[in-house]
Amino acid sequence: MKRKIKLAFFSAAGTTKKVILELARALDLVDEIIDLTPKDNRNQPLILDDKDLLILGLPVYAGRLPSFLADYLKSFRGDRTPLVSLVVYGNRAFDDALVELKDILEERGFINIAAAAFIGEHSYTRDIATSRPDKSDLDLAYEFGLKLKEVLIKEPTSINPPGTRPYRPGMVYKDYKIETSQACIDCGLCSRDCPRQALAANNRDIDLGLCVLCSRCIKACPVGAKAILDEDFQSFLKDFTAKLNKTRLEPEFFL
Ligand SMILES: Cc1cc2nc3c(=O)[nH]c(=O)nc-3n(C[C@H](O)[C@H](O)[C@H](O)COP(=O)(O)O)c2cc1C
Ligand code: SF4
Ligand code: SF4
Repeated sequence: MKRKIKLAFFSAAGTTKKVILELARALDLVDEIIDLTPKDNRNQPLILDDKDLLILGLPVYAGRLPSFLADYLKSFRGDRTPLVSLVVYGNRAFDDALVELKDILEERGFINIAAAAFIGEHSYTRDIATSRPDKSDLDLAYEFGLKLKEVLIKEPTSINPPGTRPYRPGMVYKDYKIETSQACIDCGLCSRDCPRQALAANNRDIDLGLCVLCSRCIKACPVGAKAILDEDFQSFLKDFTAKLNKTRLEPEFFL
């Protein structure tokens, strides 16, 4: 059966988007690309039927799905709709993110027929998995797309990606705050593009209850005016970076 391919992703810092779009290049036709990063694009659930196929890419936060996205996914509905799940993580681990994604969407009418985990530059710093996905990662994303074509002609069957149940505890946020330096030129990019609409129109005041430390505002600021200056965070990040840079992890496919 020729299915309508819907490709959806959330990508605050852009790495998940790069991987999933490369995967899409290997498929003959993607009918719809849905960028779930802007908050206004997550007002409606995705309701799909048995003639659709969903390819969904999300980042890993604390070994899980970002909790606000997990909540949003609970509004999705499928009707024996095949699901290809893709997670992107920052060279530590993807832990239970793929099983969580499978569980949420299979309970809602999807069949998780394939999955993959890729590595992207860590949201917290440019010094972990720097500039990934790189050429080698993107070649593998394309290869995964080619493998998917073979899976898609078969009857949909559910796979079991790695991960444990009960899932590990999710992200516990400390009160780390994104600070804005004098360098800010008030271009408005950060407040306009915050996926949680956590930044006020003055580009500085921040709602800590909404901010998920996705780092989009830090990485996208044209003058480098945004940063987390908190000493505890900086000291944690120093050790964390040294630890995570010891080994280069590689993408994995589950088909
Ligand atoms: C709050 C938070 C928690 C994260 N937790 C993990 C983690 O548990 N394991 C990991 O390897 N990377 C983790 N990361 C890094 C992201 O998964 C990684 O950088 C990913 O490429 C971000 O995707 P994006 O660029 O599409 O936003 C975390 C990032 C954030 C912001
Ligand atoms: S993106 Fe940077 S320069 Fe632009 S308003 Fe935000 S902090 Fe200021
Ligand atoms: S304010 Fe927080 S949620 Fe918004 S872009 Fe910055 S880090 Fe992400």
